Amino acid sequence: MTWRVMRGLVAIPTTIAASASTVERSMAETTVTIEVEGQAVSAGSSCSIVEAIWTAGFTLVTNVGCLGQGVCGSCRVMVNRAGSSAIEMALACETLVEAGMRVAFVAHLTPRSDRDLDPRRVQSSWELASELTAAFPESVDCRHCGGCDTACPRGIAVQRGVELAVEGQLGAAGDQFDECVMCGLCTEVCPESIDPNHLGLWARRVTTSSFVRPANLLRRLHQLERRELTVER
Ligand code: SF4
Ligand code: SF4
Ligand code: FES
Repeated sequence: MTWRVMRGLVAIPTTIAASASTVERSMAETTVTIEVEGQAVSAGSSCSIVEAIWTAGFTLVTNVGCLGQGVCGSCRVMVNRAGSSAIEMALACETLVEAGMRVAFVAHLTPRSDRDLDPRRVQSSWELASELTAAFPESVDCRHCGGCDTACPRGIAVQRGVELAVEGQLGAAGDQFDECVMCGLCTEVCPESIDPNHLGLWARRVTTSSFVRPANLLRRLHQLERRELTVER
């Protein structure tokens, strides 16, 4: 049988839906109703949004990958909580349902692939700063608008990661993106097309694959070369 989707949701037989719920629920939990893509979905209060969709008799054939592990970044959703006008970005498999919550999936983001991000291009750690500028020329134009920080469902300080990379602190920049699940939302909202998540991944790759000298030492040497540092004798 083929399941086709309208905005990611499709009805399935109740027996299949029931077996899809893998988490045992406490007797004390309450039933709450949320709205997903305009459809009412009721589930136990300890369910994630993804689990609520399953247990209500729907399944998802798009917008899920790791199915609840919180690592693939596929289940991007916009969430509006009851009594609030704010929209927050979240991962549906990690976010618990709340009464009155309204949910819409962010579907089909196009991955960008027009950059040469092969870390083997970097022949020497001395070239890292110029390689960053070559691979991500837009990074120096960051507007510090904070859009990427707001969009990130992982709460990563994306803007700071970009800033650190531009400063030449690639190790620290890469560390900033440790929890990134490559959901692509920061890239989607960036008005300068910086592709922050790809920048973060690139920083992590090159610093682990080609660093001979520590990042901080390199940065200081570059500053010395540009006569930005005085040396005490
Ligand atoms: S840094 Fe970007 S790609 Fe990574 S989790 Fe945050 S929004 Fe998603
Ligand atoms: S969204 Fe883009 S321009 Fe705005 S702070 Fe983030 S990286 Fe900079
Ligand atoms: S399904 Fe993979 S992060 Fe949610």
